[in-house]
Amino acid sequence: STVRILGTPMDYGANRRGVDMGPSAIRYAGLADELEQAGVESVDAGDLAVPRAEEIDLDRNVEEDADIWGVDNAKYLPEIADVSSRLADRVDETIADGEFPLVLGGDHSVAIGSLHGAAREADLGVVWFDAHADLNTPETSPSGNVHGMPLAATLGRGSFGEMGWAHAPRVQEDSIVYVGLRSIDDRERELVRDSEMTAFTMADVDERGMTSVVEEALEIATDGTDGVHVSFDLDVVEPKSAPGVGTPVRGGITYREAHAALETVSERHERDGVLRSMDVVEVNPILDEANETAELAAELTASAFGKRIL
Ligand code: ARG
Ligand code: MN
Ligand code: MN
Ligand code: MN
Repeated sequence: STVRILGTPMDYGANRRGVDMGPSAIRYAGLADELEQAGVESVDAGDLAVPRAEEIDLDRNVEEDADIWGVDNAKYLPEIADVSSRLADRVDETIADGEFPLVLGGDHSVAIGSLHGAAREADLGVVWFDAHADLNTPETSPSGNVHGMPLAATLGRGSFGEMGWAHAPRVQEDSIVYVGLRSIDDRERELVRDSEMTAFTMADVDERGMTSVVEEALEIATDGTDGVHVSFDLDVVEPKSAPGVGTPVRGGITYREAHAALETVSERHERDGVLRSMDVVEVNPILDEANETAELAAELTASAFGKRIL
């Protein structure tokens, strides 16, 4: 089906570090062309309105957000909740219109909206490509940055005040699979271990190879669900190939493994149409080198939609 591009220029979840320019950078890197080469039609629905920090009253100390909703340690939560609820509506609408939502972040907190939207009318499996587990709650987060918390919000873990609506009951823990983990906070480690999620760390990728890991990830995420959401955080890739991310971690997947991962997703999708929605997040043009991370994001998206070398 037609891919509908939903730009979400939000960087509040990463404490305003420049990922709001990700959607522009990925478009400039030739996303539409890449998708055309993959043989899929796309329409660009533009960017969701994200209030510029300069336009709104951010004079308040972000710690005062605590007072607003009684939530400690979740920076810019009211702004994130507002954008997320509108994004969720757009994603849901896109699917209802028979198109495929491709959400361009923005930081990884955009997944709060995309998962909620994609799981309104379906039981949803998730494959989460990331160096990080993004399962902190406001209680466990060492940074207070909401991009480290989207899966907690989706699963209804921790207290998010007025953003409690983000809990998406049709996303079940045992249908969520991580690929590429290598940086987990101490308290978060227990959360992952005690959860029903499947975690393929970098060590698993080393041992088994990317194709086999992603095939199994898709088996798990499709088991008992109606479709799969792929959330792709560019920091899963080795920083030498993806320098333009806010929270780089050495030892990531290679350029070629990244393509292999998404080619595996597209092969499965061609067979049984499992893919329901996707995010591409955390591209930070301020930290990038000559837009190469955005270019990689565009290329990888094309691989997910079937672009092949021959
Ligand atoms: N675990 C760290 C935190 O909670 C880093 C999270 C990074 N997340 C991301 N989507 N890049 O702050
Ligand atoms: Mn992430
Ligand atoms: Mn990450
Ligand atoms: Mn279940």
